[in-house]
Amino acid sequence: MSKKITENVTWVGKIDWELQKFHGDEYTTKKGSSYNSYLIKDEKIVLIDTVWLPHDKEFVKNLEKEVDLNKIDYIIANHGEIDHSGALIELMRKIPNTPIYCTANGIKSIKGQYHKDWNFVTVKTGDTLNIGKHTLTFIEAPMIHWPDTMFTYMDKENILFSNDGFGQHYASESLYVKDIEKNEIYEEALKYYANILAPFSMFVTKKIKEVQDMNLPIDMICPSHGLIWKDNPEEIIQNYLKWADNYEENQITILYDSMWENTKKMAEAIAKGIYEKDKNIIIKLINTAKGDKTDIITQVYKSKIILIGSPTVNNGYLYSIAGILEMIKGMKLKNKKAAAFGSYGWSGEAVKLITEELKKSGFDIINEGIKSNWTPDENIIEKCIEFGKNII
Ligand code: FEO
Repeated sequence: MSKKITENVTWVGKIDWELQKFHGDEYTTKKGSSYNSYLIKDEKIVLIDTVWLPHDKEFVKNLEKEVDLNKIDYIIANHGEIDHSGALIELMRKIPNTPIYCTANGIKSIKGQYHKDWNFVTVKTGDTLNIGKHTLTFIEAPMIHWPDTMFTYMDKENILFSNDGFGQHYASESLYVKDIEKNEIYEEALKYYANILAPFSMFVTKKIKEVQDMNLPIDMICPSHGLIWKDNPEEIIQNYLKWADNYEENQITILYDSMWENTKKMAEAIAKGIYEKDKNIIIKLINTAKGDKTDIITQVYKSKIILIGSPTVNNGYLYSIAGILEMIKGMKLKNKKAAAFGSYGWSGEAVKLITEELKKSGFDIINEGIKSNWTPDENIIEKCIEFGKNII
């Protein structure tokens, strides 16, 4: 179903209510998602982005109800990832000569995935395309979050088509942020930022400042996932600037995995110590083998300190901790602190190995961590409580 956004712009995307996982198994999307494609009808007709491959036929069929495909003058591919370019094969089968406007890296990524020599037109920042009453301006946005990414700006209606930037994985019949409970949508936007954009914060800050310097009035931000920022888009821009600037809340997150609940007992005692020392700090205690990794990454992003615990197993640590450490490394976080803890029976390397990984991931290491030989007794529990207090 299409949805009219303005006099000239119609949403022609796909709401994916069922989506539970994205990027394979990397990102859990418990609230679904959408792949937003936009059709602009002016003297020229323009399609911005398409949808994910499994929805290609439905997308093209729906688009045909909105416009004679042969009347589409230009396709704009703001980003070549398959969730936005996936329906191109089906579409280009019907209109093979229609020009596709994208960045030089966009051509590489689209050709690399589909192996088709379509009629590509390379655009750079500042290039414009007049389509009648409106002019589109292209703004390259490399590494937000692929090298090929760009934004497209439409004047007069003052719309920034921002692709993944400002997106959220959220399925909703309404297209607008204003119709959803604000905290819920901001939580999803932050989750998206933490899990997709965090490693590229430097590029985010630079790009927002560059767009601000272009003095383009922005009345609406139309991302490629989730809802449109229509009322006060400046608010999400300011939040992005905040999130991109070594973001932290007054929060400590304790991540652990446990075989026989010994490391778990340590985690709980550490949390107790933190709380005894500071009752205002938010403490999150998450078993990494049971928690949702997308939520865990979001909590890590919000924290000023993370503590990671695992028993020693076969001279190493448990696999759920290994997975989370790898994801955390990819986030390229700065200005956060960390320490490790864990129980052991004999060799006891886990705490040292986790500490080394945290250091490699850019954390300031608070101390050498705390270990419990076998099941923590009252003495060790007291030490864990003290460890928690000293973290503060
Ligand atoms: Fe939503 Fe990078 O694709």
